[in-house]
Amino acid sequence: MTGVHVRGWGRAVPEAVVTNDDLAQRLDTSDAWITERTGIRERRIAGKGESTGPLAEAAARDALALAGVGPSEIDLVVAATCTPEMPVPPTAAWLTAQLGTGAGALDLNAACAGFVYALTTTTALLREGHSHTALVIGAETISTIVDPGDRATAVLFGDGAAALVLSAVPDAPDGLPGGLLASDLVTDPGGVDLLVVPGGGSARPPSAETVARGEHYLRMDGREVFRRAVRAVAGSIERTLERAGHGPEEVALFVPHQANARIIDAVLPRVGIAPGRTSSTVDRYGNTSSASIPLGLAEAADAGTLADGDLVLMSGFGAGLTVGSALWRWRTPGHGEDAA
Ligand code: ACO
Repeated sequence: MTGVHVRGWGRAVPEAVVTNDDLAQRLDTSDAWITERTGIRERRIAGKGESTGPLAEAAARDALALAGVGPSEIDLVVAATCTPEMPVPPTAAWLTAQLGTGAGALDLNAACAGFVYALTTTTALLREGHSHTALVIGAETISTIVDPGDRATAVLFGDGAAALVLSAVPDAPDGLPGGLLASDLVTDPGGVDLLVVPGGGSARPPSAETVARGEHYLRMDGREVFRRAVRAVAGSIERTLERAGHGPEEVALFVPHQANARIIDAVLPRVGIAPGRTSSTVDRYGNTSSASIPLGLAEAADAGTLADGDLVLMSGFGAGLTVGSALWRWRTPGHGEDAA
């Protein structure tokens, strides 16, 4: 089977750190409430020149440099985002222009589950031979759709981006192709109204009225999202592991979407994964939507946590409610491969 190997990774977050105490100065909230209910201590908020495209570009350039791959070798760019650089063109196409490559380019919006959907889609295109070397990115400036005056959402989200360079690799000599072993992509349609930005789309095109009503901001029933997310993520992980024929004890690293530390804590015992094998960035970055899983993965890779052959489990959920999980066999770049 054709494997898909991660040849490089990169990440980028805005300069500005906004702490819980900073938020408590302008909102009716406190560091104690936010830390206890979410595990978040601070987040990065984009400033001038740090919109979704530039963050994605910085992460992509780091990933390319680490991989030793030039932009001309990239033939596919997939960007998971629900806060694109602009509605049209796709952020991925904007990025190809910055990188000076004519690669195929598409954006994918599955909200906070977007990276798992993007990784699954990209892997399929690589395995089928449509592309050989791809950039897959999760990039968001969620702060642009959060009402700064709404304490229920303003404390949860942050901005950031991370990217992987993936290559199709013919049969690994040791018979252990890297890449996706199984995935599970579903929705909980009963949760479609729980997390919405009602204005600015075709149903309610942007106008002075939609803006005056704050319809360009995210509205969320947090308690119900929490309840459904725990159940949906646990089920999705169980199906993924079962499809792959692996048990939770074989997972070397679990990279969950970082919405709330309490959601992760509730999922772990349900699926049998130890906290010590779980990536956690929520305290420093908050919920960065589709960037949170690749940020956690890139951070673990930078820390040297991942060994060749390790099984990495990723799982995310987001508006929709979209849910996506993937079990990935990590192969060390350069190990047993002769990149196609
Ligand atoms: N500071 C202080 N008090 C607050 C704050 C705040 N920032 N926010 C809410 N409260 C208050 C509420 O008003 C409520 O007060 P009341 O009891 O007087 O009515 C009280 O705190 C409890 O509110 P709950 O909503 O029950 O608090 P909960 O423990 O559920 O925590 C939270 C809220 C953190 C939002 C939690 O429900 C959660 O994390 N839900 C999941 C949200 C999520 O994951 N969203 C992202 C999905 S991914 C995507 O696609 C974008």
